[in-house]
Amino acid sequence: MKMNLPEQILNYRPEIGLILGSGLGFFADDRIEVAGRLPYEDIEGFPVSTVPGHAGQFVYGELHGKRVLCMQGRFHYYEGYTMAQLTLPIRLMHRVGVKTLIVTNAAGGLNRDFSPGDFMLINDHINFFGTNPLIGPCSEDELRFPDMSAVYDSELREGLREWAAVNGQDLQEGVYLATTGPSFETPAEIRAFATLGADAVGMSTVPEAIVARQLGLRVLGISCITNAAAGISQEPLTHEEVFETAVRVRPQFADLLAAAVSVC
Ligand code: HPA
Repeated sequence: MKMNLPEQILNYRPEIGLILGSGLGFFADDRIEVAGRLPYEDIEGFPVSTVPGHAGQFVYGELHGKRVLCMQGRFHYYEGYTMAQLTLPIRLMHRVGVKTLIVTNAAGGLNRDFSPGDFMLINDHINFFGTNPLIGPCSEDELRFPDMSAVYDSELREGLREWAAVNGQDLQEGVYLATTGPSFETPAEIRAFATLGADAVGMSTVPEAIVARQLGLRVLGISCITNAAAGISQEPLTHEEVFETAVRVRPQFADLLAAAVSVC
């Protein structure tokens, strides 16, 4: 896919890319020493976000002396974007020099030890989209069959685990399963996903992580467990509940994410 590389971001030379999920976009405004912003609509060839609560811009600046490029708002498959479109930001990050991707999301908890408001370090994923962002032509400098046996960098995970232990922040760890959405899952699907080995379920992250690994980026993934998954909770699921939990745990999430940048 064609895309113009924005000069202002290229010149800033960001080292770390950060994808801020549902209700988590505040981080860029609260914690980054902002050097600039660039709305997606100003980037030729770029898709534009359609979900409320997703501002749809890059925010870049410094945190812990590192140059970070945040996506305030991401693209979802359920919005109707193609896999190629929704992973274009990862290709942009790679081309402007980003070496590490920190990816966040809101997720439903399958693991019965998890409670809403917990954070989960992603240690692996299950791609349940039924498609793959790497389907299609492959350029000569790209791997056709990239390895996915260690998507989520173990050193970075260890670093964040250590920070959490020292700072008294509970941190769960587990497998993230991604579906297309946008309907939430049925209780039968959740039971099936638990049997498959999933600890949390969501509608994002996996396409970005796959493309990032193909491009050789190191990946760190964090889920905010916003709700118990369908059937584990007896209540109907709503986007409001997801959003409210994400808002409630903002301070802890911001601390965790800032720590994630510091360990990169
Ligand atoms: N299912 C899928 N996606 C989600 C959920 C869920 O329960 N919570 C937040 N994102």
